[in-house]
Amino acid sequence: ATYQEPHRPQIHFSPPANWMNDPNGMVYHDGEYHLFYQYYPDSTVWGPMHWGHAVSTDLVHWEHLPVALYPDSLGYIFSGSAVVDNDNTSGLGQNGEAPLVAIYTYHDPEGERAGRDDYQYQGIAYSNDRGRNWTKYEGNPVLPNNTGIRDFRDPKVSWNTAAGQWVMALAAKDRISFYGSDNLIDWEHLSDFGTDQGSHAGVWECPDLFPLPVTGANGESKYVLIVSINPGAPNGGSGTQYFVGEFDGTTFTVDPSFAEDVTDEQGVWLDYGRDNYAGVTWSGIPEEDGRRLFIGWMSNWAYANVVPTERWRSALTVPRQLTLHQTPAGYRVFSQPVRELEQLRTDEFTIPEGEESANRGLSDRFSVPANAPKELELRYALSPDSKARFGVELANGKGEVYRIGYNAASGHYFSDRNSAGPATFSEDFVGDLELAPRVMDGAEVSLHLLIDRASAELFADGGATALTEIFFPTEDFNQIRLFTEGDGVRLLEGKGYTLTSIWP
Ligand code: FRU
Repeated sequence: ATYQEPHRPQIHFSPPANWMNDPNGMVYHDGEYHLFYQYYPDSTVWGPMHWGHAVSTDLVHWEHLPVALYPDSLGYIFSGSAVVDNDNTSGLGQNGEAPLVAIYTYHDPEGERAGRDDYQYQGIAYSNDRGRNWTKYEGNPVLPNNTGIRDFRDPKVSWNTAAGQWVMALAAKDRISFYGSDNLIDWEHLSDFGTDQGSHAGVWECPDLFPLPVTGANGESKYVLIVSINPGAPNGGSGTQYFVGEFDGTTFTVDPSFAEDVTDEQGVWLDYGRDNYAGVTWSGIPEEDGRRLFIGWMSNWAYANVVPTERWRSALTVPRQLTLHQTPAGYRVFSQPVRELEQLRTDEFTIPEGEESANRGLSDRFSVPANAPKELELRYALSPDSKARFGVELANGKGEVYRIGYNAASGHYFSDRNSAGPATFSEDFVGDLELAPRVMDGAEVSLHLLIDRASAELFADGGATALTEIFFPTEDFNQIRLFTEGDGVRLLEGKGYTLTSIWP
């Protein structure tokens, strides 16, 4: 049977076999959510990159399709985006139908080996049959690397109403370069952002620029600029930071209230766990839906190539909805699992309110099999002087234990995978526990958790803090309990669900 191997995620996308990294080209078109991804079909480690492909009608269940883009004489196919060219601005459409256009990076391995610095440049490909067949544009590259920038990649294109044209956000080593185009083919440099903003502990990669309404602010809206960096994430390896500001059609500027959060090499991070990287958002989501939908790569360059899976490597996060909020810390992007995932819930149970409830076994409340994916929604009341650590513990018969929750003494959400299984494959896999500073204040702490066989995703305080981590126990975790160490914590409300696998 497929998708039954040890560690194989049950509610997350992973390729049938072999290597995957970044999600690419996510676009909604004609009733389908397209998902492409960095894929090496010949091995379980990174290699010559292709675009793998899958589609979904509900963001939950995925149908695998053949590889969409193969390397060619111009190089490997690195990360990028895709758009529906509704007005056929590119002229690549046929029979009056809007083409799908993918905009991606060519990485020329020979140029790299020869020590050149212009071996990454941008190309496009198009499809006129709902993404089933792709043709590379004859005039590639559409954006050559004229000035010789060694890291010049990951174009994210969207139609920008302020600019009245297509805008490309491109990672150029230590900055995001914006380009504009009327036709997706001829690109003109607009501006650069970021050499003196945010974290520069690593190379900038995989940007995304989009407007997002400020929740509860009567139509006020800001631009969010996502920038992944590798290495230099707050908890090691690769991570994703973001900026909140304005885009006037040419230039991105950080909002004055956000500026102090991103000076002196500080970053504000979309997810404080170690396993959410290179994520960007879907294009083409219909206006009447209006959501900003995100998916990330659930791994980390520090160890992605050596994690202990046999047939395939890496999964993606669950699709998430991003929203923008004014918080005690300033503007912050919140992440929450998309509501479509609720269809996987079975056997709902509630945990009664009370102090004892914050410290109790739950294994018997979930349905069989004991290793099935689980969802928990927990609300706690915290007394102001509490120094307690509390949350959820997973365990197995081998004495391996994983814990995730909140430490009131440090004001951080934590994830402890240090004893969750042998981590001899990488020194970088184990480490500090206090990963994610709490954004919200107040006496009520909420934990929304999605637990799969090899991952936990925490959305705390309504999504204000996101924490995504993977783990590899020798045997599946089949025991689960709520734990509390210290005083001053009371469970207000608890709900649990067993989740149905998304794979047939
Ligand atoms: C990010 C990244 C991108 C690049 C791709 C190559 O994880 O390094 O910058 O396009 O992976 O696979």
